[in-house]
Amino acid sequence: MKKNMITGVQPTGRLTLANYIGALKNFVAMQEEYNSYVFVADLHGLTTYQEPKEFNERVLELAALFLACGIDPKKTTFFIQSEVDEHSVLGYLIAFQSRVGELARMTQYKSKKESNFNGGVDLGLFIYPTLMAADILLYDAHIVPVGADQKQHIEITRDLAERFNKKYSDIFVLPDHSIPKIGARIMNLQNPEEKMSKSAPENDKGTLFLLDDLDSIRKKIMSAKTDSDNIIKYDVDNKPGISNLMTIMSVLSGMTFKEIEDKYKDANYGTFKKEVADVVVLKISEIQDKYNEVRQSGELKNILKEGAEKARKVAKAKLEKIKEVHGISY
Ligand code: TYM
Repeated sequence: MKKNMITGVQPTGRLTLANYIGALKNFVAMQEEYNSYVFVADLHGLTTYQEPKEFNERVLELAALFLACGIDPKKTTFFIQSEVDEHSVLGYLIAFQSRVGELARMTQYKSKKESNFNGGVDLGLFIYPTLMAADILLYDAHIVPVGADQKQHIEITRDLAERFNKKYSDIFVLPDHSIPKIGARIMNLQNPEEKMSKSAPENDKGTLFLLDDLDSIRKKIMSAKTDSDNIIKYDVDNKPGISNLMTIMSVLSGMTFKEIEDKYKDANYGTFKKEVADVVVLKISEIQDKYNEVRQSGELKNILKEGAEKARKVAKAKLEKIKEVHGISY
C-alpha cells in the first residue's frame, strides 16, 4: 500500500522561489509515489494579523500557484485547511500532550514573537505547533516534505504523537520529515546570511516572488550580493552569495556543484549571474503561464471544494477513533 504524505504552506506573503525549491518542487515529485495531501494553511496564517479581504485573495492566489507549480488534484488531495474543521478539534486535543516549556523553545516562536508583540504575545502563535501536529496526525502521514526551517515542528509532532500513543493507544503514525539535500534553505539575495522569506516586503530586492515580473526577477539576480573574488566555488561560509546562486542553479538545471564549478571556471560573476537569471526566468515564466491558465479557467474553487470533501472524509474517520480513545464518543 502507498504511504501517506502531507504538507502545507501558509498564505502569509507571496510565494517565493525559495518555497518552490525548498518545498513545492518536492511535493510535486512525491505525489507520484505517495498518497498525498497538500493544503493551504490559512488557520496558521492567522497567527499574524491579516487584512481579511486581502487574505482571502491571497489564499486563492496561493492555491492557484500550487496548481501552476504542478500539484495535480487527481493525484493529490488538495484543499484549504479551514475547510476541514477536524484540524482545529484535534489541535485542541493534541495540545494536552504538549508542554508550555517545549513550545516556548520553538525557534519560529522565538523569532516571531517579537514582531507579534502587540501588548502581549498571542496564544495562537504559541500553539502554532500543536495545530501543525494535528494537520499531520489526522492523515496518518508517514512523511512530511518541508524546508529546513520546519524540521523542529515535525520533530515535536513526533514527540506529541509518541506521548499520546503511550498514554492512550497506539493510533498515531510517527511522521518523518523529508528535507531536500540541496535547496532546503535558500537565502535572501541581498543578505545571504538570512533566509529568503515570503513575508519580506513586496519591494524587497533580495526576494524572488513567483509572481514578480520577469524583468525584475532578472534585475534582482544581476544585483545579488556576492564577494569580490570572482571565483565560482561552493563555499557557504566564505562565499554565501555565490553558494546561494549555485544552489538555485543546481536545483533548477540539474547540474551538480562540481559541474557548475567546471563549467564556469573561467567566467566572471556577471556571466554566471546572467545564466542563473536565464534558468530562473524560464522556470518562473512557465509557472506564471500556468498560473494565468488556472485563474482564467474558473475551476479553482471547484477543485478546492472537491479536495476538501475528500480530506474531510479521512479526517472525520480518524477524529472519530481519537475521540473513542479519549472516551468522548457517545
Ligand atoms: P511556510 O509557509 O513558512 O513555508 C512553506 C514551505 O517552504 C519552505 N521554505 C523554504 N525552503 C527553502 N528555503 C527557504 N528560504 C524557505 N522558506 C520556506 C518551508 O520549510 C515550508 O516547507 N508551518 C508551515 C506550514 C504548515 C505545515 C503544516 C507544513 C502548516 N501545517 C503541516 C507541513 C505540515 C510553514 O509555515 O511553512
